[in-house]
Amino acid sequence: MAGQKARLSNGAQIPLVGLGTWLGLTPPLGIMYKAVKTAIDVGYRHIDTALVYGIETEVGDAVREKIADKTIKREDIFITSKLWSTFMAPEYVRPAFNRTLKDLQLDYLDLYLIHKPTGYQHADPFGPLLPTDEDGNILFNENVDHAGIWREMEKLVDDGLVKTIGVSNFNHHQIQHLLDNSTIKPVVNQIEVQPYLTQTKLVDFCQSNDIHVTAFGPLGSPEKAESNQPDPPLLKNPKIISLAKRYHKTTAQVILRYLIQRGISVVPKSSNPGRMRENLQVFDFVLSDQDMRDLAGLNQNWRAYTNPYDAKSCNYPFHEVYD
Ligand SMILES: NC(=O)c1ccc[n+]([C@@H]2O[C@H](COP(=O)([O-])OP(=O)(O)OC[C@H]3O[C@@H](n4cnc5c(N)ncnc54)[C@H](OP(=O)(O)O)[C@@H]3O)[C@@H](O)[C@H]2O)c1
Repeated sequence: MAGQKARLSNGAQIPLVGLGTWLGLTPPLGIMYKAVKTAIDVGYRHIDTALVYGIETEVGDAVREKIADKTIKREDIFITSKLWSTFMAPEYVRPAFNRTLKDLQLDYLDLYLIHKPTGYQHADPFGPLLPTDEDGNILFNENVDHAGIWREMEKLVDDGLVKTIGVSNFNHHQIQHLLDNSTIKPVVNQIEVQPYLTQTKLVDFCQSNDIHVTAFGPLGSPEKAESNQPDPPLLKNPKIISLAKRYHKTTAQVILRYLIQRGISVVPKSSNPGRMRENLQVFDFVLSDQDMRDLAGLNQNWRAYTNPYDAKSCNYPFHEVYD
């Protein structure tokens, strides 16, 4: 780790705290435009987004304005986006990427991830992003060639359009397949990690293969309606609350610090300026080894993002709890 950034296997550096931008499948207009501008003003230099979030144009507008008003230069900010499941074939990688780059109004991305291993049926040119049959079941593309898609991801690097490539929601079998069939190894795996889902084996597998882990949903995704919130919800866990009091920090800061001390970067989402600042202030304290163990002891393999609609796909990554 170098300061507030982690060094990646390709020599690039990823800021350890980034801003998440997922607001659901029908995002209210304008919220992320404002949030990204505020985030940059309060010091964020890492934005995590995706084509399916439906807000890449807003993120692009905000970043462009902050470059224009000289708050940042392009090279100061680390921007991540993701290849969506309807583009899970080699021939669709470039069009999906081009759309993301155009919407973000950038000429390169810092990090491009395969969003998840499952493929959906593609409909030209860009929709629907969640294709379903008349009963509402997802229409899968079960012939996904991960290695072939990965070769197209590598070409984006070769063409200078992306600095770093990686995956998201891949389990260890799916990562191993890419490790065995790639020229450029996956550099990042973005997965859900938080104290109720510590993912120790998958994180160890990634880190021992020089794959950096980014945690999504690091605060337990309290807004997410689809999941059953555990009791108590992560941010209301009395053990974490009591630790937070001891360190004179907030519960969220203790959770984020726990992840960062494991070498994991985090992308908490907030549209609230105070909480955005709070989530950045995690570099002025260190959790003791015992407190790290106690936090790890809260694991219950609880996922906010089980993605149940994907469970029937042969590429669904979460059948085994790799822990
Ligand atoms: N790769 C993937 O498949 C994948 C999947 C899911 C998510 N993600 C990424 O990960 C990001 C984060 O995940 P997430 O948005 O589901 O969940 P999260 O970051 O765990 O939680 C966000 C929620 O916590 C609240 N919050 C933020 N900071 C807080 C604080 N300091 N104290 C109390 N509450 C706080 C936010 O409310 P306010 O906005 O009101 O502050 C929001 O309701 C996403 O936005 C997205 O970029 C990636």
